[in-house]
Amino acid sequence: MAPAETGDELVFFVNGKKVVEKDVDPETTLLTHHTANACLFPICALHHVAVTTVEGIGNTKSRLHPAQLIVAVTFQERIAKSHGSQCGFCTPGIVMSMYTLLRNKPKPKMEDIEDAFQGNLCRCTGYRPILEGYRTFAVDSNYCSGVVNGTGCCRSKGENSMNGGCCGGKANGPGCCMNEKEENVMMMSSNLFDSSEFQPLDPTQEPIFPPELMTQRNKKQKQVCFKGERVMWIQPTTLQELVALKSQYPSAKLVVGNTEVGIEMRLKNMLYPVILAPAWIPEMNAVQHTETGITFGAACTLSSVEEVLRKAVAELPPYKTEIFQAALEQLRWFAGPQIRNVAALGGNIMTASPISDLNPVLMASGSKLTLMSVEGKRTITMDEKFFTGYRKTVVKPEEVLLSVEIPYSKEDEYFSAFKQAYRREDDIAIVTCGMRVLFQRGTSQVQEVKLSYGGMAPTTILALKTCQELTGRDWNEKLLQDACRLLASEMALSPSAPGGMVEFRRTLTLSFFFKFYLTVLQKLSKHQNGPNSLCEPVPPNYVSATELFHKDPIANAQLFQEVPRGQSVEDMVGRPLVHVSAAKQACGEAVYCDDIPHYENELYLTLVTSTKAHAKILSIDASEAQSVPGYVCFVSAKDIPGSNITGIANDETVFAENEVTCVGHIIGAVIADTQEHSRRAARAVKIKYEELKPIVTIQEAIEKQSFFKPTKRIKKGDVKKGFEESDHILEGEMYLGGQEHFYLETHCTLAVPKGEDGEMELFVSTQNLMKTQEFTARALGVPSNRILVRVKRMGGGFGGKETRNTILTTVVAVAAFKTGRPVRCMLDRDEDMLISGGRHPFLGRYKVGFMKNGKVKSLEVSYYSNGGNSVDLSHGVMDRALLHLDNSYNIPNLSSVGFICKTNLPSNTAFRGFGGPQGMMIAECWMGDIARKCGLPPEEVRKINLYHEGDLTHFNQKLEGFTLRRCWDECLSSSNYHARRKLIEEFNKQNRWKKRGMCIIPTKFGISFTVPFLNQAGALVHVYTDGSVLLTHGGTEMGQGLHTKMIQVASRSLGIPTSKIYISETSTNTVPNTSPTAASVSADINGMAVHNACQTILKRLEPIKQSNPKGSWEQWIKTAYESCVSLSATGFYRIPDVGYNFETNEGKPFCYFSYGVACSEVEIDCLTGDHKNIRTDIVMDVGTSLNPAIDIGQIEGAFVQGIGLYTMEELRYSPEGNLYTRGPGMYKIPAFGDIPTEFYVSLLRDCPNSKAIYSSKAVGEPPLFLSASVFYAIKDAIYSAREDSGMTESFRLDSPATPERIRNACVDTFTKMVTFRSPDQSTPVC
Ligand SMILES: Cc1cc2nc3c(=O)[nH]c(=O)nc-3n(C[C@H](O)[C@H](O)[C@H](O)COP(=O)(O)OP(=O)(O)OC[C@H]3O[C@@H](n4cnc5c(N)ncnc54)[C@H](O)[C@@H]3O)c2cc1C
Ligand code: FES
Repeated sequence: MAPAETGDELVFFVNGKKVVEKDVDPETTLLTHHTANACLFPICALHHVAVTTVEGIGNTKSRLHPAQLIVAVTFQERIAKSHGSQCGFCTPGIVMSMYTLLRNKPKPKMEDIEDAFQGNLCRCTGYRPILEGYRTFAVDSNYCSGVVNGTGCCRSKGENSMNGGCCGGKANGPGCCMNEKEENVMMMSSNLFDSSEFQPLDPTQEPIFPPELMTQRNKKQKQVCFKGERVMWIQPTTLQELVALKSQYPSAKLVVGNTEVGIEMRLKNMLYPVILAPAWIPEMNAVQHTETGITFGAACTLSSVEEVLRKAVAELPPYKTEIFQAALEQLRWFAGPQIRNVAALGGNIMTASPISDLNPVLMASGSKLTLMSVEGKRTITMDEKFFTGYRKTVVKPEEVLLSVEIPYSKEDEYFSAFKQAYRREDDIAIVTCGMRVLFQRGTSQVQEVKLSYGGMAPTTILALKTCQELTGRDWNEKLLQDACRLLASEMALSPSAPGGMVEFRRTLTLSFFFKFYLTVLQKLSKHQNGPNSLCEPVPPNYVSATELFHKDPIANAQLFQEVPRGQSVEDMVGRPLVHVSAAKQACGEAVYCDDIPHYENELYLTLVTSTKAHAKILSIDASEAQSVPGYVCFVSAKDIPGSNITGIANDETVFAENEVTCVGHIIGAVIADTQEHSRRAARAVKIKYEELKPIVTIQEAIEKQSFFKPTKRIKKGDVKKGFEESDHILEGEMYLGGQEHFYLETHCTLAVPKGEDGEMELFVSTQNLMKTQEFTARALGVPSNRILVRVKRMGGGFGGKETRNTILTTVVAVAAFKTGRPVRCMLDRDEDMLISGGRHPFLGRYKVGFMKNGKVKSLEVSYYSNGGNSVDLSHGVMDRALLHLDNSYNIPNLSSVGFICKTNLPSNTAFRGFGGPQGMMIAECWMGDIARKCGLPPEEVRKINLYHEGDLTHFNQKLEGFTLRRCWDECLSSSNYHARRKLIEEFNKQNRWKKRGMCIIPTKFGISFTVPFLNQAGALVHVYTDGSVLLTHGGTEMGQGLHTKMIQVASRSLGIPTSKIYISETSTNTVPNTSPTAASVSADINGMAVHNACQTILKRLEPIKQSNPKGSWEQWIKTAYESCVSLSATGFYRIPDVGYNFETNEGKPFCYFSYGVACSEVEIDCLTGDHKNIRTDIVMDVGTSLNPAIDIGQIEGAFVQGIGLYTMEELRYSPEGNLYTRGPGMYKIPAFGDIPTEFYVSLLRDCPNSKAIYSSKAVGEPPLFLSASVFYAIKDAIYSAREDSGMTESFRLDSPATPERIRNACVDTFTKMVTFRSPDQSTPVC
């Protein structure tokens, strides 16, 4: 049937309400009821579908108490009350994953819950509180959630109990409450939330599936067609219609899940004018069990394939399901459920991606594909001829893939599949494979073997030559050796092969075969274990190489000191008060910048950025953009009414004029009526360049001496003498890669011109209102008093919105000025990653002199950071790196220098820790080297060098209230370090290919801005006549719970409950000249300012209170108002006596220090470079915590972000300075599965800090560095692997410790077969 001239009506249901859309654009995407990715799901695929969103399952509207928001539904309540929502941007997605799981499986196991979150990411929480809150739904949740003395606690279960308990099942181990004195136990609590408050799951409250859709199911569907501006979507109902349409439109795309086509259209700018959707065709969705295997319709989703295979594996004899089991293992790590729920088997095959996970399985198993066209059907085998080139197959344009038969395996046939990716969950493969061997009946002689690899060529391939040579051979050591030799030669890659990682990929081909060899050997010897067995058994220390990845059940405990007995129940300081916005965030009601309702005449802006790292701009031609519908105008440098000069160091421009200095440099912007039109028009702007040679890497900058000045140095003692007195001297180098902030909410600005006197209102996702106001005013040529900047909340910041938001905000403001209309822009993830910079990569070179006992005598270090194309905050970052180069160690003689490389990368900027994590990381590198050289345990060397109370740092600041040694001892003891170290040694002896490692690391983090004048803050308190308080302060809320803490502070200061206090937003017209919310000091300085304002109000109320001592707060306020007493007050605070001079090494850079210690244990797979985080124990000094739930959330969140920094997140650039890793597909942040299986955090007790509000301490940044314990635990494990290869010397391991770096460092026979350069030699880095 030919499609109608005009489009059909689209009918779907959202939260039970019917939606009928007449003019649907097939390019539009939307969220669906299944967990699915909103940005990929085509709106047309919603026809006759019911959609449930987070708003549809609960809200905060039912109020039990005037100011207490109550969540109506348990999914949202549990994540909110368990402190699983910080910035809240990820929260609705996580709630919906949980909701979907419970709808499908009302009684889930903990494993189901963890699996359900495979496709969700959170950048704030560190995942533990989310899992903990939702653990309450799990049927196997026998863990007491650490409620000391509650059910399951060691104490309540008696001395010999080994069941769960407050210490996570380690009853009676060191640190267990059973070993504590009774009075101490009562002082400490692990009760961050009370699960007895949770509403039970009530399925009757769930939205009802629309009856209209139920009746639709039984009706015969008719073909529908939706037509947009550029794309037509046709949804046929029969196979005949489909093949007829395919013959009519041979280049049409068949879209089922849209997970490939959607990416191509959205991100790769590809246009497919005709889309055919086969979702309604019965044959394409059918599953048939045949004599030879199971046949799946090509449109079967991966989740449905998984379900069918799982059932078959459970029901059929194991020998028949070898292939199914391998396919299931691949599907286990295939994307996340949101993708698997919609993506089709046929889509995976026909995409013909060289890194498809299923194609190697289908190819090695010889699966059968049935193709159909108007001419009829044909069935072919998926073999080496199926893929004809990169993303090409033998399927003809007019054909469709109808079905796929995955065969049963036979007796004497074995099958395995392996995949290695950057991250285990939801990541595409680096190398993937399917391997099959069939033996002559009852022998170990190979009858047939097929080894299929992905990631080693432009297509999925078969190692034909190797397979041929192995046929007829016996499955023994000789075959293994020959196979590796053959594979090493057949799976060759040129050094410049696309995708890089050449040695790693080649090694993986051998490692995978080795795993397959051992797995088969194990099965053969099991089957033939009689006297006639022809196979050698697998050596016991090799067995773990055959084990598939598994994770033990999670366990955790969070301990904090309870408030003193007698503290008023209304005084919330020190209690785990839930984040004040958590409920709204969980219900999807919290308003972020882009949620602000659209103004009637609002326009959208898309940036036009440079594609060259360094070039002269020859011409800018926006003429083609004008023909795009909805186009309004193009803005560039000449539209700036004020100054084009901007940036912290006045070395940037709002728009590049003559020259671009990085890829992503903003040249102009297109304004149009909609986001889609502005995007399209922006792509049509043509820029001509004359390319200049870029400087990309630190090495290149050093060669060209391209540095930002001044270069800072710190010197102490006599370095030369120190070296002379040393027993040993070591020299080394370490590189640390940068890090993308990956706040879930990308940069966003809405600029609204007010039409009078140059006034403009800016809604911005920024940590820095003052600079946003100042830079915008300067660009518009108006005084700052005309620019109002407002921030309600951010969906994460982490330093990325401290200055870099201004590069977008100023552009949007200029566009709003030019058009006189409101203009909005929220960056796409790829744009955000491309233009806004991140953490500075660092190179550290060191020379360290030390004694035989490991005591450091002298140190010389040079730090080089990659600053990018402008100064921005690079000086501050380098200052902090130099001030933290000692980490926590006393170095008597020291000489250090920090160079900031000027390169052609986007300007790098603030990122949680601000150079501290880089500076300290290099210290831990040489500390490890010293231990190795001295042959001493690393923890001994670290401890012998730790500072003592009263010591002077290398910048001559006296350490007072030095609690680090307490943290160290507690962590050593609570982690049971020494006993576990022995167990690790034992494990490593018994396992050749899996190794464990452990490391304990301290941190000392200086608190204050290193720019002294930034250490100031303001607050404004209004008390209204009903007694309610509106509080404003200079800090912004980005998830860190600052507003919650400030409400706690105001509550105690005023002596009223927190429920009477409200914070609406941060704005430049309430508190002016605010310092950025950064450097971890915001609670300290804003808390003091809030306290100061409250004291002013209280002072004014004093006479009224005295005249009516028994009166209520409301009565006093009423009297005050009627007595004409001002009920509004400002507050101000500055940190006294901070300031440091690098020239003289005098002064005091920090007000005080936060301390902490972490001990981490990991296990690495020496063959693949994979690792798992087994356990982490953290002891952290946060003073007297203002809010233990928030502080523990900051510690865990920072720690997991640090795990990303040091083990996973790798920014990759081309030699020309082009960022490859521009989105979540390429750049991996830690997911749920990456957190330590056992995760214990304890706040050091009895450590009040006299330097900050209510004896608290800063916590945002200090714990991040503790994740270095994971990196050095990995290095510890690698040492063990190298020792098995006879290598005992120290080696270089750069950060992050990716699977590639881990595998390449575990030198063995396999790496040696493919290595063409020294494994310790690093490649040039940015
Ligand atoms: C976040 C994310 C994670 C991913 N992770 C993985 C992963 O871990 N492993 C992996 O292998 N892939 C992964 N992918 C890739 C992708 O999900 C899979 O390839 C998926 O199976 C594609 O199916 P689809 O239905 O969405 O395809 P669509 O996008 O709908 O279509 C893909 C292509 O197949 C063609 N096609 C579809 N069906 C037919 C048919 N019956 N006949 C002829 N042509 C047809 C279409 O014309 C189109 O060219 C991931 C993708 C995303 C977005
Ligand atoms: S709370 Fe999860 S991203 Fe912020």
